[in-house]
Amino acid sequence: MKHTPELPRPQRRPRRLRRTDAIRRLVRETTLTPDRLVLPLFLIDGKNVSEPIAAMPGRARLSIDRAVRECENALSLGVHAFDVFQATDPALKTPDAKEALNPENLTCRAVRAIKAALPEACLITDIALDPYSSLGHDGLISDDGVVLNDETVDVLAAMSVLHAHAGADIVSPSDMMDGRVGAIRTALDAAGHQQVAILSYTAKYASAFYGPFREALDSAPVDAPNVPRDKKTYQMDPANAREASIEARLDIDEGADILMVKPALPYLDVIARLRAETNLPIAAYHVSGEYAMIKAAAQNGWLDERACTTEALSAIARAGADVIFTYAALEYAQWWREYWT
Ligand code: PBG
Repeated sequence: MKHTPELPRPQRRPRRLRRTDAIRRLVRETTLTPDRLVLPLFLIDGKNVSEPIAAMPGRARLSIDRAVRECENALSLGVHAFDVFQATDPALKTPDAKEALNPENLTCRAVRAIKAALPEACLITDIALDPYSSLGHDGLISDDGVVLNDETVDVLAAMSVLHAHAGADIVSPSDMMDGRVGAIRTALDAAGHQQVAILSYTAKYASAFYGPFREALDSAPVDAPNVPRDKKTYQMDPANAREASIEARLDIDEGADILMVKPALPYLDVIARLRAETNLPIAAYHVSGEYAMIKAAAQNGWLDERACTTEALSAIARAGADVIFTYAALEYAQWWREYWT
């Protein structure tokens, strides 16, 4: 029995192009290859150490030797870029984060070791003080609890030069201090590192999705008098999008080479907005909480990990990200290989 006899039959049928897998592949608008992924690595002191991170199933803190092997494996899967974060020995953390400026710190040693073993790898280092600070902030804190901008920028610039000397290809300020991109560019150039690029965390939000990362590095703001309990005086308000355009304009003027939005999935509008406003490459950071949500649900049998991860990463690319930082880089690269072979 026909319920709508009076309707004309459609001539335009978008479903024709969805009919078979071959046709769907032919007209697929977004292709995310492993070339565009960055794998973040968590470093820890020691030899042959791989310490699982509870809130990030599948990810671990690695000693330098194990990190080199992880990079080697990633390269064989087509992932060429790595972002290194160090889990600093608590005994070395101080309020002034001075371990950040030690040329023999974990990050500098790891960069030298990975570069020596795998010169073809692209190494990105994180520029912020939180892994080194006993107070758990990205910047220096005054006695009355203010995150000091210009004093912090000075340290970040010195830190960038140190990482460049060690062999970093790209330095990546994640601190959200004002004026740091210009200061880092000036310091790098003065030290003869004109070729080292700056990937700026342009729109980094004060997000609750960083929880598992702070567990991985034990880097959350500490509960102490005159220490801010959160990062809201420097990271952006999640309610704001226009402000991202202001940050982008400043970063571009100060000489950033790549602009980043972070987190990724809750901020697709911001990725699309910056994509429309600049011709610079846009990066997005699919952060620890985004990763943990899918992993946890998959472990419970509530979500299909491969389908959900692929959908999430494709959505981030579709919104306009050229580069995606993700803890799922190795899994995705493996799935990618299965998809096209
Ligand atoms: C800190 C930094 C953070 C992340 C990267 N760099 C956490 C923070 O701002 O507290 C988060 C990454 C993630 O959650 O995956 N400089």
